[in-house]
Amino acid sequence: MRKPLIAGNWKLHKTINEAKDLAKTLCTKLADVHNTDIVLAPSFTAISAVAEICQESTIKVGGQNCFPEPQGAFTGEVSAAQLNDAGCTYVILGHSERRQLFGEDDAFINAKIHAVLRAGMSAILCVGETLEQREQGDLFEVLGAQVRNGLKDVNDTQMEHVVIAYEPIWAIGTGKTASSDDAAEVHAYIRGLLQGVFSPAVAQNTRIIYGGSVKPDNISELMAQADIDGALVGGASLNAADFAAIANFPRPLHMADTHR
Ligand code: 13P
Repeated sequence: MRKPLIAGNWKLHKTINEAKDLAKTLCTKLADVHNTDIVLAPSFTAISAVAEICQESTIKVGGQNCFPEPQGAFTGEVSAAQLNDAGCTYVILGHSERRQLFGEDDAFINAKIHAVLRAGMSAILCVGETLEQREQGDLFEVLGAQVRNGLKDVNDTQMEHVVIAYEPIWAIGTGKTASSDDAAEVHAYIRGLLQGVFSPAVAQNTRIIYGGSVKPDNISELMAQADIDGALVGGASLNAADFAAIANFPRPLHMADTHR
């Protein structure tokens, strides 16, 4: 069974002190949540402070990006091992903002995935289509390429440390959520794809989470879908009450006592 995962992507928000305040409040509010993995992904500058606060809790810390090389003359970049050293156990990779604003392609993202896995952390691979691609009927082709190329040369054992986040670009920060049926269709497609590329066991065990305007009032409907294993939350993760409400989503019947 797949343990649900709720991750907060804080993007380019919060000073160190603001991040510490939010992390402290969340550690208190989420102290009783044991059957869901919770990940906070602050800006690089706040990672070690947030990790220190979360140390005594079950909350894990993630990076929002990393560079594939372990070290060298790469001004402004941060390595997977440095993120791990700062307290991260997860790294978000291939976010659509990285793909669109910084020109990251699947091959570059794939190199980062391998770097994160080599550093002993888990990777959250983001995939998602633009509205134009969806309207042109290219949805599955686009997602298929992002998943296959992003996970190139990743083996079945390593897949235990990979989470896929489906984030339709048109739903990010827009207040538009994919309907739970639309999201469920895509999640089922991705699971089917994993079965072909890897194995039925990998398809069954890999967590596929949804992102794009996830809020306290739509999380239950999303989580009620059999193939949706959690959420990658942007805007609503900056507010303690909202993120806590999302992380405390009412568990649907099919998730009773899931542990992993
Ligand atoms: P919003 O929740 O603000 O739409 O952002 C989603 C996202 O990009 C998370 O990575």
